[in-house]
Amino acid sequence: MKRLLIACTTLIAFNTHAQNNLVFNVDAAKTTISKQIYGHFAEHLGHCIYGGFYVGEGNTKIPNTNGVRNDVIDALKKLKIANLRWPGGCFADTYHWKDGIGPKNKRPGMVNAWWGGVTEDNSFGTHDFLNMCELIGTEPYLAGNVGSGTVQDLTDWVQYVNFNGKSPMSDLRQQNGREKPWHVTYWGVGNEAWGCGGNMTPEHYADVYRQYATFMTGWSNETKIFRIASGANSKDYNWTEVLMKKIPLNMLGGLALHHYSVIEWRKKGPAVDFSEQQYFETMQSALFMDSLVTKHSAIMDKYDPEKRVALVVDEWGGWYDVEPGTNPGFLYQQNTMRDAMIAGATLNIFHNHSDRVRMANLAQTINVLQAVLLTNEEKMILTPTYHVMEMYNVHQDAKLVPLTIKCNNYVVGNEKLPAISASASKDSTGAMHISLVNIDAKAAQDISITLEGGNYKTVGGRILTSAKLQDHNTFEQPAKIKPAPFQGAALKGKTLSVKMPPFSVVVLELK
Ligand code: AHR
Repeated sequence: MKRLLIACTTLIAFNTHAQNNLVFNVDAAKTTISKQIYGHFAEHLGHCIYGGFYVGEGNTKIPNTNGVRNDVIDALKKLKIANLRWPGGCFADTYHWKDGIGPKNKRPGMVNAWWGGVTEDNSFGTHDFLNMCELIGTEPYLAGNVGSGTVQDLTDWVQYVNFNGKSPMSDLRQQNGREKPWHVTYWGVGNEAWGCGGNMTPEHYADVYRQYATFMTGWSNETKIFRIASGANSKDYNWTEVLMKKIPLNMLGGLALHHYSVIEWRKKGPAVDFSEQQYFETMQSALFMDSLVTKHSAIMDKYDPEKRVALVVDEWGGWYDVEPGTNPGFLYQQNTMRDAMIAGATLNIFHNHSDRVRMANLAQTINVLQAVLLTNEEKMILTPTYHVMEMYNVHQDAKLVPLTIKCNNYVVGNEKLPAISASASKDSTGAMHISLVNIDAKAAQDISITLEGGNYKTVGGRILTSAKLQDHNTFEQPAKIKPAPFQGAALKGKTLSVKMPPFSVVVLELK
């Protein structure tokens, strides 16, 4: 496949920027951008589940369906989230699923040791999650407990949710009110096995994975189980190397990777009142995703040249200091135009590597880290990240259009980043969508786009931007940032001219 070619040069003279040049080879569109790249992550952490998704069946103040907020269901349906990973994260390796089934008043409580040490009543469990996925119209992705669980527990979970026939676990499921299995395809075999999932070496985890994977099957064969191994922490390339070498390909559906856009783990900086320097450093970390997926993919290519195993970036997003006055263990942070930049640029990276990156999960869906929704009692707001993911969902399952890009640099001090991030796809109706991010916090960008092939007559689009990079939606002003029609694109034959304001995201549609 023709790779994305980035060559960004400093073309700045007397404060004016030269034109950025993009070439899209429309006729070469071949690889499918898996819609599973548009997955999300919901952990028992802070107010993601309790107060975020779930407010309880008895709640008369907040409209809900079986305890799940109706406003959340509607917003996530509109977003077209392709899959939802649950119950963690670090929490997953402490979670015993059998404590979360059966009559709610009989379920034992548990202490959420990783996140705030709070006691949970297990009122949101397997049935609640899987039924909620059906309401939202998304595929569940269950993360199994390997760190403190057993092979028997995890294989029982598979049988409980997937077995269509008579078995101890399917009988139990039916006693608990669910006749038919849910047919869960995606299964994580532990989480961050190198850290909170057990502090294992890659060699040890590879053996543990093989053992678990052996007993996790579809049983009835109705569901093809897709097993995902706990993957590398950011640039731990050795982790990927060892797992690819030691795990037989036929036991492995996907290999995970976690990378957060963080400035410094001990000094992450504020979510809202950040400086331009902090913005720049966050974007450096976000754009590093390109190098990460390139290098991890190259290692995978050595062992799996046919690209059977997916690279699954099942945790990504911006991570800042928690909002002042909130529980440090709850990871609650606001979401500004900086987060919109991270989302737009990261999704472009995933698209451009869609031959290997076939699944991803933004961390996390509600009230935690780079959330798409924030809730406060009966109020719910959509964040700038939500809007980017909604604008971009036109790329789901469309064909990637290869791109060559030559762009200006965004310079801060002595350092620079490519100012423009881009990707494009052609959908089943023949329409082409181009998503563009101007990362530069100060300068507008003129972009000249050449279309090789295709025959388009019209261009339309939407833009997300605001007056200040630090702008965000609040419960008092929920629609300060929202997509608007974009008038800055003109199509003349095979050339498209676009003018983008600083820190903006644009999605164009060509027909
Ligand atoms: O998303 C928050 C935490 O970050 C997850 O629980 C863990 O997997 C990662 O370290």
